[in-house]
Amino acid sequence: MKTYQFIAAIAFATFVLTACNKPVSDGYTNHAAVKEFVISKTTDHPGKKLMEQQCYVCHNPSSDHDGRIAPPMVAVKSHYMTDSITKKQFTDAIWNFVEKPSEEKSKMRGAVRRFNLMPFQPFNEGQVRLIADYMYQYKIDEPDWFKKHVEEESNGNMKYHNEGRKIDGTHSEEKQTPEERGLGYSFDKTKY
Ligand code: HEC
Repeated sequence: MKTYQFIAAIAFATFVLTACNKPVSDGYTNHAAVKEFVISKTTDHPGKKLMEQQCYVCHNPSSDHDGRIAPPMVAVKSHYMTDSITKKQFTDAIWNFVEKPSEEKSKMRGAVRRFNLMPFQPFNEGQVRLIADYMYQYKIDEPDWFKKHVEEESNGNMKYHNEGRKIDGTHSEEKQTPEERGLGYSFDKTKY
């Protein structure tokens, strides 16, 4: 009888221990899974923040059409983006202008007439390339009036472009791991 009680006690203790341990380890796994889910769903490309900090003073999407001091960034994107342009060509073109703005380089003559040439500012090349990388790969914020403006008023001078690009058939947003994103603009291993 004693032996039986002893075995029963051990069995009970084992049961209690596993029962206690289980929710803890499950909780941990679930927690990790949730964290992973949040990271992979958030658009945290570093170019987004840089663009908001450095370019939105002038190129923001919230000023109305008449009160602007520069075109919204989606207008810049629409002038520089073509159906066949590669990411490298796009980022090179943006940096080429921003490095030293000039009328000869401008693809937005109407904007130069309306706002004057973008003033030279000593931007960091790596950061501007990250911004361009973000513009190329993602749909960026745009003013409500913009699409209508392109359709009704641009007389074919500008084609609306604000799609997120698919790279290698997969949406870059879904493909990148947090580690890849952490590597900055060199993370994209796709061919240019
Ligand atoms: C002080 C205001 C100001 C800031 C800040 C600014 N821009 Fe501009 N930008 C302008 C104006 C005004 C234009 C329109 C005239 C022109 O095209 O030069 C413009 C036009 C452009 C163009 C199109 C040029 C063309 O004519 O082909 C690009 C590309 C551009 N900006 C990139 C950027 C990027 C990237 C940043 C942030 C790193 C930035 N700008 C920050 C004022 C600014």
